[in-house]
Amino acid sequence: MAVTETTPTTKPRLNAIVDDIHEALVDIITKHRVTLDEYRAAVGWIVEASQQHLEIPLMLDVFLASTLDDLAQEAGEGTESNVEGPVYVPGAPRLERPYVLPMRENEPGEKLVFSGTVRSTDGSPLAGANLDIWQANGACEYSHFQPGVPEYNLRGQLTTDDNGAFEFETVTPAPYEVPKDGATGQLLAALGRHCFRPGHIHFKLSHENAAPLTTQIYFEDDPYLDSDVVGAVKESLVTKVARHVDDGGNPYATCSYDFVLPAG
Ligand code: BEZ
Ligand code: FE
Repeated sequence: MAVTETTPTTKPRLNAIVDDIHEALVDIITKHRVTLDEYRAAVGWIVEASQQHLEIPLMLDVFLASTLDDLAQEAGEGTESNVEGPVYVPGAPRLERPYVLPMRENEPGEKLVFSGTVRSTDGSPLAGANLDIWQANGACEYSHFQPGVPEYNLRGQLTTDDNGAFEFETVTPAPYEVPKDGATGQLLAALGRHCFRPGHIHFKLSHENAAPLTTQIYFEDDPYLDSDVVGAVKESLVTKVARHVDDGGNPYATCSYDFVLPAG
């Protein structure tokens, strides 16, 4: 049956998109001969998810964010963008040099020193570029989303020096397991899929003469690079990690990444 014609609207794009969603769902229901019981189970699952804090944005990001990011990136120059994800919190503290992300005394995770540069596409250093950084710790915990973790833990903003260089100390993030106890985790389990993302650090970069960039950096030795539950890993965003032992016999890691921002 044709979709009912209604009053012409001022939002043809909305009409076109909603019509296509409707058509796609009708096609899926028809193709798989979805039963009324299955339809009711799906509606029940959506109702349950909507009653759980953050499960709907989490589920949408798990299944769709990487597609949106790929489209936004098309024909872009400079460092590739990557999904922002659902756990960004604005207003992270501005740090003083030498930069250390805010963390607790025994923060889970091996010490990591992350260095790099921010340059424009012609190779000139971008001094005073802002890096807004957020990450999970070595126990898979993001501050603001895990009870008991202090506000803005492992979240901070820093700026590049006159040579466009930066360095900060943090801990190596563990592979991140999307919460398993909610509707998203239940759906992934029912599909036989694991809930892991490779360990990563999120960055939002900005500079007055450059286009802003939201991206993530991954680590070469991570076991989940090829099976990220979000499907967001891009080869150009994977960095090497070197392992060392300091004079006191304590292990630590170093890595670096050189970001390139197109003109704004
Ligand atoms: C993340 O980067 O942390 C993330 C992205 C999408 C879904 C869940 C988590
Ligand atoms: Fe993340």
